Amino acid sequence: MRPVPVWVGTSWKMNKGPAAAIETARALAAFTPPAGVQPFVIPPFTSLRDVCAILHDTPVLTGAQNTHWEDAGAWTGEISPAMVAECGAELVEIGHSERRAHFGETDWTVNLKVHAVLRHGMRPLVCIGDSAQEHDFGVTREVLARQIMIALHGVSPRKMAQVLVAYEPVWAIGVNGRAAEAGFVAEIHAHLRAVLVRIAGEEAGGNVPLLYGGSVTRDNARAYTRLDNIDGVFVGRAAWNVTDFVQLIRSVAP
Ligand code: PGA
Repeated sequence: MRPVPVWVGTSWKMNKGPAAAIETARALAAFTPPAGVQPFVIPPFTSLRDVCAILHDTPVLTGAQNTHWEDAGAWTGEISPAMVAECGAELVEIGHSERRAHFGETDWTVNLKVHAVLRHGMRPLVCIGDSAQEHDFGVTREVLARQIMIALHGVSPRKMAQVLVAYEPVWAIGVNGRAAEAGFVAEIHAHLRAVLVRIAGEEAGGNVPLLYGGSVTRDNARAYTRLDNIDGVFVGRAAWNVTDFVQLIRSVAP
């Protein structure tokens, strides 16, 4: 059973200052996505408020790339979930592998952030993924089960309806990455689905959208989304250009 719709989103990572972000958001606001597709964009914090305002009354959702777990306090350089919510964000990306690798994010801080995001009425987009080494040693399933079980620990079945999960193999992301085979992703998603059902029950666990990310392009996106176990794609480089993103969105229409 596929939870509808097909999700297709992009994080701009550390790209697009306010001027470029506003220009991109305005172009997206003028675009009508096909039925059955749920697009989203995740700008840097410096333009989060502007992009949220521009896309507010459109079908495109807006998210933040990260959040702290506390609402306020002596945390120099951090952005709180209350601030992100006040900007108008609907989603918050949590635990991307670049944050885990370079900024010390752990499964435990991911869990704190998931709860913070839910507390503020936003949807956490939890990123999980195996490293190349873990993949080579054949422990992908174990690694992902551990990541997801800690990330979602303590989330009630009711709140689980707000959660999205993105499987993003570290070996598939970025310029040196190679896109995972769609069949492999579908198998891994079936495993993740079973883990979700085990921790949240048939209904709540069965409905969490499972996205794939890692070297997705407008040419390969549909190979993923046409498979039953893959509820959407999460894209980096290939969606930063708005024309490419629009084509990618059209390509995954059911
Ligand atoms: P990529 O990034 O599409 O540029 O490989 C994916 C991601 O980091 O989510």
